[in-house]
Amino acid sequence: MIKIAILGCGTVGGGVYKLIQKNSNDIKMRTGKQVDVKWVLEKDVAKAKAAGVAEEQITQNIEAVLADAEVQIVVELMGGLTFAYDCIVKAIKAGKNIVTANKDLIAVKGEEIFVLAKENGVDVHFEASVGGGIPVIGAMQNVLCANMYSDIVGILNGTTNYILTKMTEQGISYQTALAQASELGYAEANPSSDVEGTDAARKIAILASIAFNSRCTLDDVYQEGITQIIEKDITLANKLGYQIKLVAMAKERDEKIILFVRPAFVKNEHPLAAVNDVFNAVFLKCDAADEIMLYGRGAGEMPTASSVVGDIMAICTSIANKTTGNYGLNCYKNKEVLEIGELLSSFCLRLRVEDKPNVLAGIASELGKRGVSIASVIQSPVPEGKLSSLTIITHETKEKYLQEAIVDLKEKEYVKKANIFMCLG
Ligand code: NDP
Ligand code: HSE
Repeated sequence: MIKIAILGCGTVGGGVYKLIQKNSNDIKMRTGKQVDVKWVLEKDVAKAKAAGVAEEQITQNIEAVLADAEVQIVVELMGGLTFAYDCIVKAIKAGKNIVTANKDLIAVKGEEIFVLAKENGVDVHFEASVGGGIPVIGAMQNVLCANMYSDIVGILNGTTNYILTKMTEQGISYQTALAQASELGYAEANPSSDVEGTDAARKIAILASIAFNSRCTLDDVYQEGITQIIEKDITLANKLGYQIKLVAMAKERDEKIILFVRPAFVKNEHPLAAVNDVFNAVFLKCDAADEIMLYGRGAGEMPTASSVVGDIMAICTSIANKTTGNYGLNCYKNKEVLEIGELLSSFCLRLRVEDKPNVLAGIASELGKRGVSIASVIQSPVPEGKLSSLTIITHETKEKYLQEAIVDLKEKEYVKKANIFMCLG
């Protein structure tokens, strides 16, 4: 029998408890070990009881949990950086194996945790930290480990994908859709990390570290969220044959990495355009397997519990075989991270301009000077004043050239507004 402690019994912790109870016999048959939840650390006793936890298993005494020599696996499902980190460090020093769903921690303090795990010969697993129920970390670290990766493109946040889908398909307001995502248990305790892109940025940093064997952290990721997206942006994208998605991307070329999270116009024909609601997807390009796409529920109680319990079972097998010491990322390279301006892509440039002669010529000239080539232009009148809305799709260009042109365009008296979306597909 393997005794475990679950720290935090909210959406994910509750799901983990339920899944272990439900599939208990098969977990034993598959791993050769009975998994027994000895402790559930939870401030809110009623919440833990609602998940089916018995009163005598519920505790608020972390020191007693960590000092309990019977506990071999600590499952951290509280979230946050401070208390969760302290608990994991103390647990590793006490010789306990770790499972966590905490991407904040892995993306920011991963290195320290893995070094400590190595010193103490314990396992650290974090499958649920990226993509909820999608087994992307396991696939990359195990089955695909013979490959060298060049591109990771994904929709990695369930909350924002749910919001954008509801805004697009049902015309629901941003605020209503966000409230629904929180109610369904998809959003973080502080949903600003979802909607501002930080959650997806943490996840792409984790996947890039695995793919490129070079430590990527949150600070390396250029980040834009969906808070500025309005209904008009969605209507325009749809009219042009695109869906707006919060896209996370990491690319490696010549030992240099570029990483970002941003709302993008994704062509209807691109596989990511059809990924809706809480679903996430990760598209991997690698040298032997070529192209792989993984798809599934990116958040929520039971899909996330699936990944966490899978990690617990992997540790049971390590314990049974006396092979613990599988501690996460092997970052044996130190690759340069490029500025976002170096991104090579097609873009949608949106301008609000005065409707008068030579305006289009002036804009084309500013773009042309920097080698930005125009693929298509759509002009439509704006009801207020003598203004026009210009939508320009560019051919592939470095983002910095387009940004330089925008700086100069904003100085022209006839340009009232200018912004860009990256185009994918
Ligand atoms: P919840 O907020 O639903 O659950 C966290 C639980 O931990 C809460 O019940 C909280 O209690 C409790 N807790 C926090 N601090 C302490 C403490 N010091 N002592 C005792 N209990 C504590 O979060 P989730 O379950 O949604 O998320 C947990 C982790 O999983 C996070 O790292 C999250 O990013 C990650 N994750 C979540 C997914 C999801 O779909 N929800 C998917 C993938 C990963 P209280 O509320 O009273 O503070
Ligand atoms: N808040 C996260 C999301 C949970 O919406 O994707 C899963 O990591």
